[in-house]
Amino acid sequence: MNTKTVIAMVGLPARGKSTIARKIARTFELDDVKVQIFNNGELRRKLSSENSSTADFFSPHNASGVELREQYSRMNLQHARDFLNTGGQMAIIDASNVTKQRRATISAMFPELAVLFIECVNMDEEVLEANLERKLSLKEFGHLSTEEALDSFLKRISHYEGVYEPLAEERNQIVVDSFEGRILQEHISDLVPHYDRIRDLLTTRTVKNLFLVRHGETYYNLEDRIGGDSTLTERGLMQARTLADYFSTWRIPIIFRSNHKRTLQTATPIAEKQEHCSIIALPEFNEIDPGICEGMTYQEIIAQMPEVAKARKENKYDYVYPDGEGYVSMERRIHRGIQKVLYLNNYDDNIMIVGHQAVNRMILSYFVFRQKEEVPYLYMPQNRFYHIQIDPHKKTFELKPYQNV
Ligand code: F6P
Repeated sequence: MNTKTVIAMVGLPARGKSTIARKIARTFELDDVKVQIFNNGELRRKLSSENSSTADFFSPHNASGVELREQYSRMNLQHARDFLNTGGQMAIIDASNVTKQRRATISAMFPELAVLFIECVNMDEEVLEANLERKLSLKEFGHLSTEEALDSFLKRISHYEGVYEPLAEERNQIVVDSFEGRILQEHISDLVPHYDRIRDLLTTRTVKNLFLVRHGETYYNLEDRIGGDSTLTERGLMQARTLADYFSTWRIPIIFRSNHKRTLQTATPIAEKQEHCSIIALPEFNEIDPGICEGMTYQEIIAQMPEVAKARKENKYDYVYPDGEGYVSMERRIHRGIQKVLYLNNYDDNIMIVGHQAVNRMILSYFVFRQKEEVPYLYMPQNRFYHIQIDPHKKTFELKPYQNV
């Protein structure tokens, strides 16, 4: 049996193809498989001028653009062929490959191998938008305003949509919802090396380093008040600066946070100390909504609403604040937030989330299973953070100090 593997990604722009390609490559690398990604877009950006990032370049009516893209694709395939001929074991062709003809060319380039096509779809409009926003920070759009960049990228996508032919008669194919991590369809006619492993990877969550940070001290924290949108105290600002120093030796490309001021104030100095770091606000990570207890202290709740305090004490996880939330009702949104993070972070090694006490408890328990009775009591200090590491066979988490104040 030939053990060399060729994987070709398929899908419209911003559907998570590169994230999946990187995930597969990283995992097999760890098993000492010689694997390389061949990305058409990177080759295009390297070899051609700024013109190749305009929407018109991608128009099917632009003969020279079409010819150039085909040329880059052929070059990339030749590089992959050379790699496999000289000891490489797994080549991943990362490009849109949206036409049958392009896919036939790929198969023809590797006649003795069973090419596996992985088509990425994402039906979630909101997540697609968030992914587009992230893409707009790429260097190739650097000379455009946000509106111009968005317009150009959307036009590019519509050019691809015009010629898009979903997988159909390809011999070995798998269609995956790249946001949900769900396999929608599979059809395998040949022996594809590592197939079971690849399929497992498409549906399994992995994170190399997830730094789960709670925002610094706020004025509300000083008074033990819940909810609200309080800002950081001097001490909280100092904690944010200390975190920034601590993480300056790490590369953090994106910090995910909630919509509250306290997470922005904590994330900003950290981002400023990075070479290139964007801060993305996800409403899914907003702190538990205490409804009618908004802005109250725990003592005030005991005194003024003893029935609330009592019911919550009896079953903290399932208790839902009147007109607000409980841990139980936050579950869905927190899981969706985590899915967004994993989708948007482009399978980078390091992820940072700056969240809140209840939110971080839920995030931690998502990755490292805890009984629901334990979740609302997980320790979430403001002078330490959780470092979470997950691969398909191992999960670890560690509470690490970053300062003494
Ligand atoms: O006290 C800070 C805080 O983030 C509040 O805004 C929130 O209501 C609370 O923590 C959640 O913790 P617990 O579930 O233990 O009340």
